[in-house]
Amino acid sequence: MSLLLTVNNLSLYYLTRFGEKIHAVSNVSFELRRGSVLGIAGESGCGKSTLVNGVMGLHLPPLYHASGDIEIDGHNILEYPPEKLRRDILGKKISMIPQSALNSLNPMRKIKHFATDIMQHHTPEMSTKNVHARLQERFDAIGLGKHILDTFPVELSGGMKQRVVIALSTLMNPQVVIADEPSSALDVSTQKAVIQLLIDLMRKKIIGSMIFITHELPLLYHIAGNIAVMYAGEFVEFGSSEQIVRDPLHPYSRTLMEAMLLAEEGTRDRQAKAVAGAPPSLGSIPEGCRFAPRCPTVHTDTCYFHRQQMHAVQSRRVRCEYV
Ligand SMILES: Nc1ncnc2c1ncn2[C@@H]1O[C@H](COP(=O)(O)OP(=O)(O)OP(=O)(O)O)[C@@H](O)[C@H]1O
Ligand SMILES: [Mg+2]
Repeated sequence: MSLLLTVNNLSLYYLTRFGEKIHAVSNVSFELRRGSVLGIAGESGCGKSTLVNGVMGLHLPPLYHASGDIEIDGHNILEYPPEKLRRDILGKKISMIPQSALNSLNPMRKIKHFATDIMQHHTPEMSTKNVHARLQERFDAIGLGKHILDTFPVELSGGMKQRVVIALSTLMNPQVVIADEPSSALDVSTQKAVIQLLIDLMRKKIIGSMIFITHELPLLYHIAGNIAVMYAGEFVEFGSSEQIVRDPLHPYSRTLMEAMLLAEEGTRDRQAKAVAGAPPSLGSIPEGCRFAPRCPTVHTDTCYFHRQQMHAVQSRRVRCEYV
């Protein structure tokens, strides 16, 4: 399987208007191969959206790149000026289905007008007639039906709108598609249809690979080959979904999986999804392990003082010297 995305030691921060640095992503490294799906799990505010936005390469204030490299399909995109990035990479090589996708469509424009804009941005030489023919073909091929092109977003259900956003984000057959909680606002059966569409797009080789963020553990387990667990801006564990879901090793992964599974089984109310305690402020990161204050197996003499590094354990990577 060929390598489509390499992220090496990526660190990103926000600069607030009070001059405070919020270290939202610290030293994240991973690879994505053709045909693979990477899931990212972690509680709200841990940096998942910042990471995937950062991976797209457009670092616009207040978000800044502190260190690290991003290579997409052999292109070192941090060397690209924004113009070139928008023209050659975004949408074509890598594309995002944003967290707030359902609100991203202007309700007063027909779907075909959004789609035509996207096609003409990337293939200005193509005639409008050919663009429309391509769009009809694509909407049919992915089971949306070409009649959808003539509708307005206000006429569509939430699930249909989400599928349209997916169709629009993948028009240029991107190598890497990032889905940031693409279905969390939808009911379960609609969520399944949305996920199915993404899986079909991969099977039909319309998209090459996928990064998938969700709070729904069973979803990740079923679609992702690998899962990264993120805590306070860092990856704390990276392994196969089988390893992470069935046998998590990092104390945070274990607590998170337990909380998610309890919530799944309905044995607790939704509060079960919250792990007890709060993560550190990303404005002033503690010097030792970031999870130490909440860790059920903390070693008080070391964990508060030693920064933990990722190291290999049974073909996965874990950021804790005690596993
Ligand atoms: N524009 C911004 N300026 C300053 N800080 C920000 C900004 N956007 C996000 N943050 C902070 O960066 C951290 C990471 O936020 P991010 O949205 O990436 O988290 P997330 O894991 O995607 O959360 P969720 O699961 O709720 O979507 C949070 O502490 C957040 O408060
Ligand atoms: Mg987010």
